[in-house]
Amino acid sequence: MTAVHGANPLRDAADRRLPRIAGPSGLVIFGVTGDLSRKKLMPAVYDLANRGLLPPGFSLIGFARRDWEDEDFAEVVHDAVKQHSRTPFREEVWQQLIQGMRFVQGNFDDDAAFEQLKSTIQELDKAQGTGGNFAFYLSVPPKFFPQVVQQLKKHELADAPEGSWRRAVIEKPFGHDLKSAKDLNAIVHEVFAPDQVFRIDHYLGKETVQNILALRFANQMFEPIWNRSYVDHVQITMAEDIGIGGRAGYYDGIGAARDVIQNHLLQLMALTAMEEPASFDANALVAEKAKVLGAVRLPKDLSKDTVRGQYSAGWQGGEKAVGYLQEEGIDPKSKTDTYAAIKLGVDNRRWAGVPFYLRTGKRLGRRVTEIAVVFQRAPHSPFDHTATEELGQNAIVIRVQPDEGITVRFGSKVPGTSMEIRDVSMDFAYGESFTESSPEAYERLILDVLLGDANLFPRTEEVELSWNILDPIEQHWDENGTPAQYPAGTWGPVEADEMLARDGRSWRRP
Ligand code: BG6
Repeated sequence: MTAVHGANPLRDAADRRLPRIAGPSGLVIFGVTGDLSRKKLMPAVYDLANRGLLPPGFSLIGFARRDWEDEDFAEVVHDAVKQHSRTPFREEVWQQLIQGMRFVQGNFDDDAAFEQLKSTIQELDKAQGTGGNFAFYLSVPPKFFPQVVQQLKKHELADAPEGSWRRAVIEKPFGHDLKSAKDLNAIVHEVFAPDQVFRIDHYLGKETVQNILALRFANQMFEPIWNRSYVDHVQITMAEDIGIGGRAGYYDGIGAARDVIQNHLLQLMALTAMEEPASFDANALVAEKAKVLGAVRLPKDLSKDTVRGQYSAGWQGGEKAVGYLQEEGIDPKSKTDTYAAIKLGVDNRRWAGVPFYLRTGKRLGRRVTEIAVVFQRAPHSPFDHTATEELGQNAIVIRVQPDEGITVRFGSKVPGTSMEIRDVSMDFAYGESFTESSPEAYERLILDVLLGDANLFPRTEEVELSWNILDPIEQHWDENGTPAQYPAGTWGPVEADEMLARDGRSWRRP
């Protein structure tokens, strides 16, 4: 066997296949009454416990303003788990989990509450054997990040006692532009060292997203064609059929590009475009992703090669949907984008001249996230024109969700006496190839935090490079006009179709 990457590849490979179980530890959730906590975090904790991946004394502390006792908190977790967890409810798992559940009541400026948190942690160390190892999950609006982080420092919660660890988990949005992101980074790093900070981009926790690395770097047949000599362009789509639901307060003024392009879509682009990392460790991965983000080139004419849109009233799944401006809590004059499409380049040897088209939107035709690597047409066709009229371009499509898998599109002969060629698909579907179902992104990410595995968490550098890409676009939009309208349930504004048509291309209709 040839030795590759690192001192002992055999041992590393074996380790990665073993189930990874967290050691003695606990999780403190700030903002425990919020949507994310109920729908994702609490269920993920239960699912991990149910899969046997948490230590027996694992502890969960909720911190919020509500006037709750431990029992009230446990009841809320119970309901959240029953409603949203992925794996079946088992009473014995629940009974074990509930032993380590505590609630601390208070505001973020309340010193007594943070002292209470400190003594709760000490009590759990004794009662549950958590060993002083705690992660603090900031599932709170960004304006509270500085305050919570500083309170953790003031009450000596950020410094790990000898032989234990303390970590901070920070939810997006990490700033709303480069300057605010830098300010925030400075505040966080005053209190926590870089290796204590875990920034969540939940797309990186998705199996299909991690599989981009497997597809590209565990195989031989894709990489030789994964470059400007063969690829015509790349389309990255994150389409949602939902509107903004009850999130007006968060969404208005933020918009689609800041909400998901700055993080999820640019991360997908970085994973698709990056070079092979020297190893699968956080530093090596970040280094390669950062090189791509640093090499991103904006279009010369932002009014032609970026489009922002806003949904108007329409139909979705047979039901009437109101327009964005009529949604509850939205300023009727809001210019917030609910759709964004941008064309980017990557200035390096592999990708020079290959456009990456990124688009996302709420209230689009259906929910789908995919990365389509679209290849150039064959340089010459020996078949007669009429027989191949329908032929599209070859493509490798990574279906991130739903219907997770990979499709390869290519032309094939239609059975019969003539040489007629038609596009066909070759499909890999997770559901058919594997019996294990995919864990939720948050299961994976919470487990990684408890294990101190930072591979799937964007670093300061990536966050700042991503804002650097988005800032000029947001500024251009602020200074020019209003978002184009598109009826709910359609595939976005015509301006976005025109943007691709000018390049002689069209968006895929997934
Ligand atoms: C979040 C965005 O990061 O991702 C939401 O803030 C969006 O606006 C959500 O709806 C989509 O996540 P998923 O996993 O359902 O694609």
